[in-house]
Amino acid sequence: MVDAATFWDKVAPKYAQSKISDMEAYEYTLERTRSYLKPTDRVLELGCGTGSTALLLAPGVKQVVGTDIAQGMIEIARSKPQEKSNADFRVLGIEDAVALREPFDVVAGFNLFHLVPNPQALFADIYEMLPEGGLFVSKTPCLADKAFGWKRFPIMAALPVMQLLGKAPRPVSMFKIADIDRMILEAGFEIVESGSFPSISRYIVARRS
Ligand SMILES: C[S@@+](CC[C@H](N)C(=O)[O-])C[C@H]1O[C@@H](n2cnc3c(N)ncnc32)[C@H](O)[C@@H]1O
Repeated sequence: MVDAATFWDKVAPKYAQSKISDMEAYEYTLERTRSYLKPTDRVLELGCGTGSTALLLAPGVKQVVGTDIAQGMIEIARSKPQEKSNADFRVLGIEDAVALREPFDVVAGFNLFHLVPNPQALFADIYEMLPEGGLFVSKTPCLADKAFGWKRFPIMAALPVMQLLGKAPRPVSMFKIADIDRMILEAGFEIVESGSFPSISRYIVARRS
């Protein structure tokens, strides 16, 4: 069994080449996210992967700090051209990223929270690090939701074997859509927008009150 940093480091070159599976859903949530951002904002992206989304958000804000546990992902992110030279990519596991003592107006995490230990505690840490009115934007695959159809059952059965063979990351939480909404509310956030784009991926914009 391999740890998250080793797993994601190894798959980084292949991940960088992979196509977004539902471009329409991606572009929709990207635009929704952009609509909340201000030119004065500092944005922290957790688990930014190869930095594609951070680089698309960066022109509309003051600075984006993209963080990821995998050195390989961050190296690819750093190698990409920047329109405004205001994206800073750092190798940081999520626990260290949410402990950063820097001011951020927005914290974002896409396709990440099903892959980290204890997301409930992380949502509480994200709440604490934001100022009043600060935003948390997340998109999380919900692999146990009925929206995923019958495919959720073979995935659940195969996952432990794939993890044992080092072919799947660890941990992977099997969420239902309602789990994500509940955890974000329990962390203290007010949900200002939510939807599923595509149907198994929960997109939420939440505000610290
Ligand atoms: C499925 S990829 C998503 C990447 C990017 N956010 C996107 O939407 O394309 C998951 C990313 O989370 C990162 N990751 C996994 N566990 C992490 C952790 N504990 N701390 C920080 N990053 C982590 C991986 O290295 C990988 O880049």
